[in-house]
Amino acid sequence: MSWAPPPIAAARLPALLAAAPKAELHIHIEGSLEPEMIFALAARHGIALPYADVQALRRAYAFGNLQQFLDLYYQGADVLRDEEDFYQLGRAYLARAATENIVHAEIFFDPQTHTARGVPMGAVMRGLRRASDDGRRELGIGSALILCFLRHLSEREAFETLEAALPWRDDFIGVGLDSSELGHPPEKFARVFARCRELGLHVVAHAGEEGPPEYIWQALDILKAERIDHGVQAVHDAALMRRLAQRRIPLTVCPLSNQKLQVFPDLAHHSLPQLLAAGLCATVNSDDPAYFGGYVNANFQAVFAATGLDSAAAYQLAANSFEASFADAALKRRWMDRLQAAFERAHDAGS
Ligand code: HPA
Ligand code: ZN
Repeated sequence: MSWAPPPIAAARLPALLAAAPKAELHIHIEGSLEPEMIFALAARHGIALPYADVQALRRAYAFGNLQQFLDLYYQGADVLRDEEDFYQLGRAYLARAATENIVHAEIFFDPQTHTARGVPMGAVMRGLRRASDDGRRELGIGSALILCFLRHLSEREAFETLEAALPWRDDFIGVGLDSSELGHPPEKFARVFARCRELGLHVVAHAGEEGPPEYIWQALDILKAERIDHGVQAVHDAALMRRLAQRRIPLTVCPLSNQKLQVFPDLAHHSLPQLLAAGLCATVNSDDPAYFGGYVNANFQAVFAATGLDSAAAYQLAANSFEASFADAALKRRWMDRLQAAFERAHDAGS
């Protein structure tokens, strides 16, 4: 028989959510660029910012939709200029993640945002690679990189980006698709994703964040995505829900992102409980924590408080994060043992 988590009282849930080991599978490294680091890097490079100070910049982080966020996200990324900047960015995220008991992170990066400004691909790759290596050695947190194509750009530009990244083929495990969703369906990138699959890269795609369920179908059927990033609009399509549940296609859900970008009227109406109830492999992630008000634990705390999810859901979500990761089976079994131990400790502490 499989192991069943002991029930944990609601009052103990916040501590348990924080202590439980988990994987993060939807984090844009550029979205972990905190305002303090934006000002520090701007000072290092002599860049003038259109904000008086950190507080003024933070006050600008009020978004009505995805595009309004992306405009500021690309503006913020402009301070990332050299290998050391990418190293600092990656290393800071991993240090923070380690404090939240994240044992493994699969990290998105957007090379086109940088190469378009004249930053060499090698500076991005070497900086992030070194951060990942140091994170593993110094913090005990595992990580891997996923290269995202910007969907508002052309498929030709995606091909050029893939070509430019191939000298670092061993430093990333997969490709994804992000940026402005509406008007840029997955089918636009059918050929470049086919080439990525031939190269043995894992394939994921943002779909059904603001876009319709049809974009999720395309990500599955045309791109052959192994995971769907966001995917929260799937609840509007019963056949799609069945497909996602039957094939155990993971959704990397980001509650605070959805709240800040007004994908749902408020967190109490978030579709996460519905996704879990339908048997989907949903996970909880931070997306762009510097912009959306919190890292993974804040996402767990907020969505649990708003929707009343219980300790069984906490266990399922953490277990799903390991199942959905691209790590090997032996590692996944070790993480599951640690997860079960965390639940047993929480249960013992409460009895
Ligand atoms: N959606 C699309 N593109 C993005 C996101 C997101 O949530 N974050 C960073 N790039
Ligand atoms: Zn995202």
